[in-house]
Amino acid sequence: MSSTVQQKTLAVLATVICLLTLCLLFVGAMVTSTGSGLSVPDWPTTFGQNMYAYPLSEMRGGVVYEHSHRLFASAIGFLTIVLTLTVWLWESRRWVKYLALTELLLVCLQGLLGGLTVKFKLPVAVSSAHAGVAELFFCGSIWLMWSMTASWKKNAWKTNAHSRGAFALATLVYVQILVGAVMRHSYAGLAIPTFPRAFDGWIPSFWSQGIFLNFLHTRIGALMVSIGSLILISSLLRKSIANKFAWMLFGVLAVQVVLGVLTIWTVKVPWIASLHLACGALLFGTLITIALWSGKQDGATA
Ligand code: HEM
Repeated sequence: MSSTVQQKTLAVLATVICLLTLCLLFVGAMVTSTGSGLSVPDWPTTFGQNMYAYPLSEMRGGVVYEHSHRLFASAIGFLTIVLTLTVWLWESRRWVKYLALTELLLVCLQGLLGGLTVKFKLPVAVSSAHAGVAELFFCGSIWLMWSMTASWKKNAWKTNAHSRGAFALATLVYVQILVGAVMRHSYAGLAIPTFPRAFDGWIPSFWSQGIFLNFLHTRIGALMVSIGSLILISSLLRKSIANKFAWMLFGVLAVQVVLGVLTIWTVKVPWIASLHLACGALLFGTLITIALWSGKQDGATA
């Protein structure tokens, strides 16, 4: 196989994994949103059978979400094994090899956490760690995807104010995602059932752990992420080449805030809460993309 075909194969595979991971995040969110986490009570088997031999015709109710999530996740696991092997065979850049290997380790850890969350009946810490590792895997898949493109290979990466700002904001978004995960898995998504007012005022007059997490996520975190994003957007707009990123960040942030508010107003309609989770990942991914590409746009050659 010629080297061009090899490089194209790697690029396609990395892109497919990245896009499928975003879909898997939605499917995984539907498991929690519909309360189907323990519909299949055993792991790694499905009702005592090999999960791949379990007849799809027998899937009913919550099993549809839980079992499809397991099958979808193992397909991504399989594709990640293929990608890692081919990267180690065909890729010359050492850091890309290690990035692919990290992705493989993350997908194994993710499978294990998914299994443990079933075995121990959805403990908050394990379910939240499962949510957190999923986002790290998604972030790694974005990085791998961009690293395979021709324009990435042309220029060297150089840190600058935009890349540092975007990395810092991505870290803040990651914390916001983790707070969202702990809140969701401790059933505190509606601990403050009103928005924008918290009960009958702007600040709750009484506090519990759930109310604190909810206030931290839906008010403080959301405000900090929005202000940080608007500062980054206005600074990117001054650099005309980065316009497309700025507008993408603006669009994803706006959709994310609307979905968050709708999650409360609709009393957590499952597909809206799940889209909010997937869009949160997209916001994180957009910031990682901005951080990576703004470092490339300083024009240094490889
Ligand atoms: C702007 C940045 C935001 C990000 C990145 C974000 C991200 C997330 C994520 C990833 C989750 C799910 C975590 C998981 O289960 O793993 C979540 C849950 C949630 N978020 Fe946000 N969110 C943001 C803003 C908001 C806003 C503005 C609101 C509402 C005012 C909101 C309301 C909620 C609610 C109610 C849940 C829990 C849903 C449930 O229990 O099913 N979020 N958020």
